[in-house]
Amino acid sequence: MRAKKLIASALSFALCAGSMTAASAASECTPNEYISASKVSSTASPASSANNDTSASVVTIMLGDINADGYIDAADASAVLSAYAKMSIGTSTGFTLKQTVASDVNMDSIIDAVDASNILSYYAYASTFSAKPLSIEGYLKNKRDTSAAVVTTTAAPAAAATTTAALTAASTTSAAASSTTSAATAATTAKPTTASTTSAKTATTTTSSATTSTTTTTTTTTSAATTTTAATTTTTASTTTTAKPTTTSTTSAATTTSTSSAATTTTTTTTTTTTTTAADPKKVASISLSKTEINLKVNEGDISMVTMLPATAEDKSEIWTSSDTSVANVNFEGWITAISEGVCTVTVQSASNPKVKADIKVTVTDPWKVRGISLSKNEITVPVGASDISMVTMTPLNAYNKGELWVSSNENVATVSDEGLITGVSGGKCTVTVISKSNPDVKADIKVKVVGPKQPVSIDLSDYELDILTGTLGISYVTTKPDTADPITEIWTSSDPEIANVDRFGNIYGVSEGTCTVTVTSEEDPDIRAEVKVNVHNRSLVTTTSAAKTTTPTTTALKTTTTTTASTATTSASATSQPAVTTHLIQSHNGATYVDGILIVNKTYSIDRDYPADKLTENTEKYFRLLTEDAAKLGLKIVCSSGFRSYDYQEQLYNNYVTTDGILTADTYSARPGHSEHQTGLAIDVNSISDDFIGTAECEWLARNAHKYGFIIRYPKGKEAYTGFRYEPWHIRFLGVETATKVYESGLCLEEYLGIDSYYR
Ligand code: DAL
Ligand code: ZN
Repeated sequence: MRAKKLIASALSFALCAGSMTAASAASECTPNEYISASKVSSTASPASSANNDTSASVVTIMLGDINADGYIDAADASAVLSAYAKMSIGTSTGFTLKQTVASDVNMDSIIDAVDASNILSYYAYASTFSAKPLSIEGYLKNKRDTSAAVVTTTAAPAAAATTTAALTAASTTSAAASSTTSAATAATTAKPTTASTTSAKTATTTTSSATTSTTTTTTTTTSAATTTTAATTTTTASTTTTAKPTTTSTTSAATTTSTSSAATTTTTTTTTTTTTTAADPKKVASISLSKTEINLKVNEGDISMVTMLPATAEDKSEIWTSSDTSVANVNFEGWITAISEGVCTVTVQSASNPKVKADIKVTVTDPWKVRGISLSKNEITVPVGASDISMVTMTPLNAYNKGELWVSSNENVATVSDEGLITGVSGGKCTVTVISKSNPDVKADIKVKVVGPKQPVSIDLSDYELDILTGTLGISYVTTKPDTADPITEIWTSSDPEIANVDRFGNIYGVSEGTCTVTVTSEEDPDIRAEVKVNVHNRSLVTTTSAAKTTTPTTTALKTTTTTTASTATTSASATSQPAVTTHLIQSHNGATYVDGILIVNKTYSIDRDYPADKLTENTEKYFRLLTEDAAKLGLKIVCSSGFRSYDYQEQLYNNYVTTDGILTADTYSARPGHSEHQTGLAIDVNSISDDFIGTAECEWLARNAHKYGFIIRYPKGKEAYTGFRYEPWHIRFLGVETATKVYESGLCLEEYLGIDSYYR
């Protein structure tokens, strides 16, 4: 190789050109460099030219040797291409003044792909010489003048199908961030009609076939192959020429390498070739590309270097097209600019021979595109007229366009503003969707429920966990929210009816030991639901102690057959600490049971058919009258709706309920005959005897004052597992003022107070 002597005028010309010129590329040049470059000298050897910068007034530049390593090769072409790519996106080339001058090999004041192509052409040409090749200036001049390649061949009839690998020096790797190149050249063959060429460093096979049967056919094929190491690389393809156009045909070589430019991501390159059999040396027959696949990010650019073959073709002008300009544009020089995410094909065509073309697959990715949306709330419930918002997060967080588009599926139910404010219009449900403006495929839904004042939004339960015994009852009471809402129609289900069953009223029965879930759902709106964890215990697990007692019954007037026994208390199974020893006296008299002197009738303790009662007891009636009179003074009307019941009447009532609701449900609110307190004349049901009574002023007053008149609310709310019956705020039991007050103040139901149970054996 030889160094190039540049005269000052050429350099000045290069420096004074406009944008995208060699001058603008020389971003690092200083005024001093301009001055010192005005005088140049030459040198005869690459070694001395590479870094011969000792004279302040002399600059030695080898045209084409950008990296000043003494060789004009693919690494230099790559450097030129990188500079071109950088300039195209408005960034500095990073070139020194010398590199800028060295790059503009055709001296047209522009550093571009043509310079890179020329460097490669020269590299391929020079690689075929073990002797002294032309300088790059001479080569390019010759090329311009003759429009012919200068690859020579030697006819060697005796050495058919030989292969030569050449330019071993070029296969070394440059040290820094530049590229590495190796090249293999083709050999010659003189064997008539059969010419085969292989490239030493590639898997390429080039073949040719003679189109005539002349006895001396000369075919020359040159191929170049490159491998890659560092960050910036280049690929070359060789030119192919024929010495005797009329008698030979050619193919071009193929190369494999990977390439990257400063502005783009890497690309795997395979040179493609369109081959024609016609051997018109002035006509473009094939196109080679340095890259057939290019991957870009949006707004980036890159170029695939084109080599039109044969080199002798006269008109190598190119036509560039993109299959989808919304994905990538391409300009007349082949510079590809990524527009938006997608894949398209960029095609280069020979203008002079349009059927010759080559494709580049261009894949554009957009790392700043919105990919996902997350919401602070996926469900929103708002009253009519009220508003709420769900905060939006678009990802990735550095997405460049996070614009939102909001849509309501039903604006009669809820509207949504451009900012995502959701406002209830009328009762109902709809979906509000937020969509990424920049990527409409990305969206997220919010389930919106708009509720009127009477529309239930949710339910609360009195208990979310119940512990009940096998054979006993538990109830968790439902409260609808908001307070203004209509009650829901409850649907009750059990996850395991073998453990706990539940009826349509929400009465939960312990069936066998275990845990299950009882669920209540609104028939009108299945989204309104709540669950109760139900733990069913065996009786053996829930015993507390009662010591045997030997005291005498207080009412000695009674004719008693006193049996003093230990009773079983139905207290929580979890009460594992030292049990409090409470003694209760249990007595039987006339088939009835008295605990601590209190007549007990419940599911455990019954009275006989002939129990001696036929009306309310005297005290019961008397104290109830006092109660109603005092209530009346407050404007409250409390009346006896059901007092004494005979065994037969209770039996009739109970059987009717069983017929209506089934035995399980009937057992929750109606005592079996013999088990009703009404049969004792000590119990009264007041007013409506229904849930309508709940929440009335009379109900509230009765709950707080009944004990003052000797009555207790016999089946309190939350005590179902002890009493065996559901909440009956209307059923009062006479105990006498002293006992009733003690029970009231204990906060216990009567079963708890006396340490007894209530279940049908
Ligand atoms: N309603 C109560 C439990 C009864 O029938 O006696
Ligand atoms: Zn009653």
